[in-house]
Amino acid sequence: MPEPTDVVEHDDRSREILGRGFDGAASFARMLAAEGELRGLIGPRELPRLWRRHVVNSAAVAPYLPASGSLVDVGSGAGLPGLVLALMRPDLQVHLLEPMQRRVAWLTEVSERLELENVVVHAVRAEDMQGEILADAATARAVAALDKLARWTLPLVRLGGVLLAMKGQRATEEVTKAGKTLRNFGVTSVEVHDIDLYDDGDVTRVVEVRR
Ligand SMILES: C[S@@+](CC[C@H](N)C(=O)[O-])C[C@H]1O[C@@H](n2cnc3c(N)ncnc32)[C@H](O)[C@@H]1O
Repeated sequence: MPEPTDVVEHDDRSREILGRGFDGAASFARMLAAEGELRGLIGPRELPRLWRRHVVNSAAVAPYLPASGSLVDVGSGAGLPGLVLALMRPDLQVHLLEPMQRRVAWLTEVSERLELENVVVHAVRAEDMQGEILADAATARAVAALDKLARWTLPLVRLGGVLLAMKGQRATEEVTKAGKTLRNFGVTSVEVHDIDLYDDGDVTRVVEVRR
């Protein structure tokens, strides 16, 4: 019987993007490919683009992460971007927030299988973590529109810290709509970065919100 095709691309660019996280991200991608659909984490149509569109894509926020400290990834789901960032940055303490028990079980299991000592999984909604955690940075991918996301996540980020929201085409529009909320939180700067990791026209927008 032929071997199933490997979802991982071993090209130089993927290695450059993921850095020291490459091998772990490759293992993570294979786990997701093997079990993700069955466990309701990814749709079958996502499998062919699992590597670039989801796993490596998570690294788009990496350049904006703090030099040290802690990160809270809100709505981690299958572990995107939180688990990939934890693999790339073992020096950061990474908190994964996810309310769905089935996904929490997955995140816990995968963190153990990948021997990630810098990850803590919390089975909570972001709103219920206010006052419990104060991180240097927060990340979120495909969780909520920026206005709602800011209200959920900025209370979890210390003054001087950063929220990195991974967005699609509507990023700038979302920034405009979130204006009042961002001002209320004393946000000092908002920048939208267009990231085309493989230079193939597949652009991810990272909204960098500093408070
Ligand atoms: C569309 S999924 C995206 C998952 C992952 N970030 C990704 O990019 O594949 C949104 C996730 O946010 C979680 N979520 C929804 N409301 C939340 C809340 N209030 N606090 C934290 N997570 C939440 C959901 O359970 C779900 O796993």
